[in-house]
Amino acid sequence: MTHALVTRRSTTDNGGAAAGPRWRRGDWVRRRSRLGVRARVTVTFGLGALALSAVMAGLTYFTARQYILNERQTAALRQAYVNATLIRSSLRSPNPDITQLLGSLDTLPGSLSVLERSGQWYATSISLDEASLPLRLRQDVLAGTPALQHFVLQGTAQLVVGVPVPSVNAAYFEVFSLADVARTLQVLALALGAAAVVTTVAGAVTGRWASGRALRPLAEVSAAAETIAGGQLDARLGAGDDADLSALATSFNRMADALQERIEREARFTSDVSHELRSPLTTLSSALGVLHWHRDELPARSRQAVDLLQSEVRRFQGMVDDLLEISRMDSGSAELSLDEVEAGELLRQAAAAAGANGVAVDIDASVAAQRLSVDKRRIERVVANLVANAQQYAGGVSRMALEPAPGAVRLVVADHGPGVAPSERDRIFERFYRGLTSGRRGGGHGTGLGLSLVAEHVRLHGGRVWVESGAGRENRFVVELPLHHTDGDDDGPPPHRGADGGDE
Ligand SMILES: Nc1ncnc2c1ncn2[C@@H]1O[C@H](COP(=O)(O)OP(=O)(O)O)[C@@H](O)[C@H]1O
Ligand SMILES: [Mg+2]
Repeated sequence: MTHALVTRRSTTDNGGAAAGPRWRRGDWVRRRSRLGVRARVTVTFGLGALALSAVMAGLTYFTARQYILNERQTAALRQAYVNATLIRSSLRSPNPDITQLLGSLDTLPGSLSVLERSGQWYATSISLDEASLPLRLRQDVLAGTPALQHFVLQGTAQLVVGVPVPSVNAAYFEVFSLADVARTLQVLALALGAAAVVTTVAGAVTGRWASGRALRPLAEVSAAAETIAGGQLDARLGAGDDADLSALATSFNRMADALQERIEREARFTSDVSHELRSPLTTLSSALGVLHWHRDELPARSRQAVDLLQSEVRRFQGMVDDLLEISRMDSGSAELSLDEVEAGELLRQAAAAAGANGVAVDIDASVAAQRLSVDKRRIERVVANLVANAQQYAGGVSRMALEPAPGAVRLVVADHGPGVAPSERDRIFERFYRGLTSGRRGGGHGTGLGLSLVAEHVRLHGGRVWVESGAGRENRFVVELPLHHTDGDDDGPPPHRGADGGDE
């Protein structure tokens, strides 16, 4: 029995798979540019793990499938040929009982037999007859060619082997169910799919972790930069032992050194210049004092000149004092000499010191006795500056108030207007900024440093200052002081350390 085997695959169950949604490259690039580095690394790791595990799973699945099917096919062929031989010898005997013969065949569980003899069909099961067999295979086998084919019967994968037995004018077909194989493969596919998902997630988690580690130095750089920007010029990065990163740390630190040196040099310059100006100014001022003493002996024009000179020298001295104060703030050597005071008392004293005695001071009862820890000298200068400005630009102070705020108290200095234009409300706190009103009313006597100093004093206390419009055309300059300020206190000055050089 030497027969060529025709192996044919049923094509009914596997039509062309529908094309899924397609990625367009542009979408991906646009999306990628919006993601951060960490997200990008995470996605890349996840996708890499997915691709790898998909390839591995696919290879494993198809190898296993091929192996199982081959095994099954070999077993099926062997059994079909054994049975065909048995049938041939049985049919040679006179008057064989074909139904009984089929029933006595040795079959695998789930396999069914169909026999054709001289145009007559016999089957072991009523669920399967010759019509269930694939037509081409049936024709091939009846024409004398043995054949093997996979096909689907009632939703179940089947394997049929057809063996012609020409010597007794018969053809033998045996159908093997592949339901168990399909089940095995399904479980395998599920397991592989689950493994791929786990691998992908693990890949993404690894990517996130690795990128977090890789980016940690950047986070440190950014924190150091923030610290420096916040005014702590001596913040530096640790050396670390990673050769790749120490270059970054070194160049960052070098940049910070250069920056610090430059800023300090500028601050030193301002402070040196101011100091140098002070003694000639003092001499000038005392000489003018002598002249002023003899004012009455001078001719009228000289008297005018002396008065003018004296007011200018006073202004000059004020400016130098302000510059010194500012350079101390810039160099970080400004120190708070803190005292515990009651908020109400603080405002009353500051108002008196600013020469605003006749002004109404509304003190909110809920915060009047609130204790504050402040540098009284600085708060008095703040109030004095605001009062002087009100007198210079807004017809004097209309009222002062102490108001409650969440976690803070507010000292308010209100004036008679005409108010600061909304476009100028932030700028008037800048150094040397002199607003539009200064020319009109004050006669150009300001330096533009007053409010910037006010802002610095308040900032040293962890508070803030701003101007808002009150009822009508008045300004309200609001100084908010926190009740418990922690700002920069970690290495801040201890209370009562003594104020910096008295310059008033
Ligand atoms: N109470 C006020 N009303 C209107 N404008 C003001 C008032 N206080 C300050 N300004 C404006 O803010 C500018 C800056 O004030 P300041 O820093 O004290 O500098 P200076 O008084 O030396 O001009 C002033 O030139 C003025 O135009
Ligand atoms: Mg001023």
